[in-house]
Order: sequence, then C-alpha cells, then structure tokens
Amino acid sequence: MSEKRTGLLIVFEGTDGTGKSTQLQLLAQALRDKGWPVLITYEPTDGVYGKQIRELYAHRDTVSREEELNLFLADRREHVEQLLTPALKSGKIVLCDRYYLSTVAYQGAAGLDPEIILARNGFAPVPDLALLFHAPIHTGVKRITQGRGEELNDFEKEDYLQQVATMFAQINLPFIRRIDAARSIEAIHCDVLNLVQPLLEKLQ
Ligand code: TMP
Repeated sequence: MSEKRTGLLIVFEGTDGTGKSTQLQLLAQALRDKGWPVLITYEPTDGVYGKQIRELYAHRDTVSREEELNLFLADRREHVEQLLTPALKSGKIVLCDRYYLSTVAYQGAAGLDPEIILARNGFAPVPDLALLFHAPIHTGVKRITQGRGEELNDFEKEDYLQQVATMFAQINLPFIRRIDAARSIEAIHCDVLNLVQPLLEKLQ
C-alpha cells in the first residue's frame, strides 16, 4: 500500500487458543503505560459482515468456501476503510487480533488457493509486524474447552486446525515473526516487547 501513514499496524495471528489475545492486551497496556496512542481492534469485526460470519460458526456448511471467503474480505474492506486507514493516518499504534494471514491459513486450509487469497487482500494495509503464535494444536484446543469452558465451533475442530497450522507455517512474508506460544505468559510478553521496540524507535 502506498498510502501515507504515520502509525503502526501490529497484527496478532495464529491458531485458536495460542494466547494471542492475552498478549495483545498485555502489549496494549505496556504501550499505553509509556504514553503511546494505542487502538485495539479485531477481525471478524462487529460490523454487518462480521456478524454474518459469527452466525456461520455453528453452521459452516450452509455457505460455500468461496462465499465464506467473500464475507471475510467484505468485513476486512469495511474495517480498513472505516477504522484501520484513518487510525494509521492519525498516528495510532493499531493492534489487531487476526488479519489477512488468518484468511490465508483458515480459508487456505478449507481448500482455497493461499496465493489467490493473499492477492485478493491487496487492498489491505500491509502490517508493520505480524506476530504469529504457534503451539501444539492439542494445547490450544484444551485451552478453549477446559480453560474457557467453551465448546469448539466449526472453525476450531482439531484436524482442521492442524491443517490451518500447516498453512501458517508455510506462509513466508518479511513482516512475520514467529512466537513459540507454549511458554509462560511473561516469557512470551518479553519476546513481544523485544520485537516491537525497534518499530517504536522508528516512530520517535
Ligand atoms: P476468534 O474471534 O476466536 O479469533 O475467531 C475467529 C474465527 O474465525 C477463528 O476460528 C478464525 C476464523 N477466521 C477465518 O477463518 N478467516 C479470517 O480471515 C479470520 C479473520 C478469522
């Protein structure tokens, strides 16, 4: 993207239950404590398409894979136009829980071509940093079912998540940093801070 921006876009990616949302909150707090202007956001959003996507969680087979992809793309387009681009232009540090690498990995694992998915996201601002959290799928699934006491939705079945993890592992882009999420929250937070620090120095 060539649009002028003065903020930072940091995205949190990975399979479900890897603790990325916890790490996002910890980073937000650490940055705010230092006086940085932080905006937290997530995908799917709470917009009209995001709501349609959430309705699919329990009935994924009611739409084709292509229709599902189109919903994620429509949701992202709205997110970019209404929130991400204005926030980046106004100098915010935007922390986004899931972004287009999730589309490449999840819809790629569902059978669509990852290269085509990536190309169709060409309208979306390229992240300054994508923190890609990985942990054994079994660990993540246990966190969802036992830790949070939730049932697995249609996007969270273990063998599908295994394929999603393989997809994530195969994506190779210069802004990706991989994080071993099977460690303590403190150790991971420390890694996250170390990865973000050089970007802050560029902003100053
Ligand atoms: P979450 O709100 O728990 O992160 O759940 C969002 C689910 O949607 C998660 O299982 C991953 C899936 N997803 C996709 O399949 N494609 C996408 O582009 C995004 C953003 C999420």
